[in-house]
Amino acid sequence: MLFKAIDTLRDFIDKEPSYSKGLVPTMGALHNGHLSLIKKAQQDCEIVVVSIFVNPTQFNDPNDLSNYPRTLKTDVKKIEAISKDILIYSPSVEEIYPEGPKSESFNFGSLSKYMEGQYRSGHFNGVGTVLSRLFDLVEPQKAYFGEKDFQQLAIVKKLVHLTGQNVDIIGCKTFREPNGLAKSSRNKLLLEHEKDDAKIIYECLKYVKQNFNYHNIEQLKKKVKSVFKSANNLKLEYFEIADEDDLTPTTSAKKNKKYRAFIAAFCDRVRLIDNIALN
Ligand code: PAF
Repeated sequence: MLFKAIDTLRDFIDKEPSYSKGLVPTMGALHNGHLSLIKKAQQDCEIVVVSIFVNPTQFNDPNDLSNYPRTLKTDVKKIEAISKDILIYSPSVEEIYPEGPKSESFNFGSLSKYMEGQYRSGHFNGVGTVLSRLFDLVEPQKAYFGEKDFQQLAIVKKLVHLTGQNVDIIGCKTFREPNGLAKSSRNKLLLEHEKDDAKIIYECLKYVKQNFNYHNIEQLKKKVKSVFKSANNLKLEYFEIADEDDLTPTTSAKKNKKYRAFIAAFCDRVRLIDNIALN
């Protein structure tokens, strides 16, 4: 069921005030990764709301915002194929930002300092702003996010801590194409042969995981850079190995700490990210 305004959505939801609510925030162009988040929310909650909103404040590149795929009709069909009881909330920019699209400023500490925080200035303030607004409007008990955006997941956990919003943040595993490429709405912008080129991203991450105990981080970085240098169509933006808890990149791994490898790369004009747990 599609709702374009919060009042009508709330009228519907508030008929059953004791029901548990799960929110799956999305920017649409839904793929199987999103659908798995929705199915997880269905298992946990009596009411599931999927928000579809391309959030202007999290884009630091106007071209990226205007090129972002918008496929509301097919998204609604995909959701209804799971269940007609799922509530879809697709608000206008004016409803989310009555005073015009503007980000609040959050102190995410080291979580927003590196990687996406470094290369997409203001991005996480935009994500934090839209999510705290959605949490206020929908008042879910749980909200669901994919691990493909691992840094975002950490930021959202910190966000609810900072704002005091009582939402349980649930991370769900990354869904992949058959060739290993992480599912992303941006994959829709790739031609078939580019999807094939982009499999290098996950191949590198798997290589790093397999070799994490045998090579030092400098060697692993060198290897990844050289693979990207000779890869078709791909340009590495960053490769980092970071502490899983504070997301600070490291040059030497310590025992008893958990690490993840993170990649951002352009496949032609499309920016893709992925990550993997190393230990
Ligand atoms: O991951 C996304 O699609 C977006 O960053 C989110 C969480 C829906 C906020 O706009």
